[in-house]
Amino acid sequence: MTDRFTIRRPDDWHLHFRDGEIMRDVVPYTARQFARAIVMPNLTPPVTTMALAEAYRARIRAAVPNGVRFEPLMTCYLTDDTDPDDLVRGAAAGVFTAAKLYPAHATTNSAAGVTNVEKIHPVLERMEAEDIVLCIHGEVTDHSVDVFDREKVFIERHLRAIVAAFPKLRIVFEHITTADAVDFVLGAGPQVAATITPQHLHINRNAMLVGGIQPHNYCLPVAKREEHRLALRKAATSGNPKFFLGTDSAPHLRKAKEAACGCAGIFGAPFALESYVTVFDEEGALERFEGFAALHGPAFYRLPVNEETITLVRGETDVPEVLTVAGEEIVPWHAGQRLGWRLVG
Ligand code: NCD
Ligand code: ZN
Repeated sequence: MTDRFTIRRPDDWHLHFRDGEIMRDVVPYTARQFARAIVMPNLTPPVTTMALAEAYRARIRAAVPNGVRFEPLMTCYLTDDTDPDDLVRGAAAGVFTAAKLYPAHATTNSAAGVTNVEKIHPVLERMEAEDIVLCIHGEVTDHSVDVFDREKVFIERHLRAIVAAFPKLRIVFEHITTADAVDFVLGAGPQVAATITPQHLHINRNAMLVGGIQPHNYCLPVAKREEHRLALRKAATSGNPKFFLGTDSAPHLRKAKEAACGCAGIFGAPFALESYVTVFDEEGALERFEGFAALHGPAFYRLPVNEETITLVRGETDVPEVLTVAGEEIVPWHAGQRLGWRLVG
């Protein structure tokens, strides 16, 4: 039995840092584990231009603890009015690593998102020509579609068409939650990949709805049936380079989660690697963890792999019931649980 192993330092290919005091308090959790992270742009107001992204990146860099090497990779929030020239300039300058498509009103702070994908066809055309990665929140927002079907319907109504219209555009289908998404990614060309969160590997929708409503297990896209969780575990641990790590860590204060209208998002950053490695261990796939966590993402984004390493050991990690950010309580993913692995540097 493997009790200890060393891999290249991983990267988180999808997370939310927020801004201000919350950002300053959550960045160290990610920097403890990861060398880089794709930072989502859904602030209020959203990060829609190169200038906004540069300023946000500087604020994140200032929050990285002294002596820690961590690089935020910025994304451009696409709107109906995105200026393709600014996006291309930002990518060429190394400010933007990708652009993010939020269907308007799909999730937290997405009101300024894209109302109709056709409106941004000129932008997607430029992105394809300039080889800029498109990250997609793949859920329809149509109120007549059941929330548990919104990812599957997005594939049929929009994603197939985007992939067909822009066959060279590199696309990351973010935080996939269904067997349908796994099948779609497997069936698409090498230009289509997906991130998978820890929560969607650990829980199905019962964890949100059985025994009283569990707001800390609520995120978007919502966890689905068990058969979907199993398909995600198979994909993540398969060794297929189309699937890689993206926590979707989305910090919301405890009071905003435990509310009559609780926010969507799970704060997965603090013990993300311990969470993921537990899954790989349960699946007998520890030897494939480095690919998922540290190799497939850089290969897809065409970035160098990290030279530093981390070591994970079998051992106890007790996740606190609650942490403090911005002087307020926040409940981390796995709160109050004991995980069987520890990151030792
Ligand atoms: C994210 C957030 O809070 O910013 N929430 C979530 O449930 N995942 C937004 C997102 O990625 O959908
Ligand atoms: Zn997200």
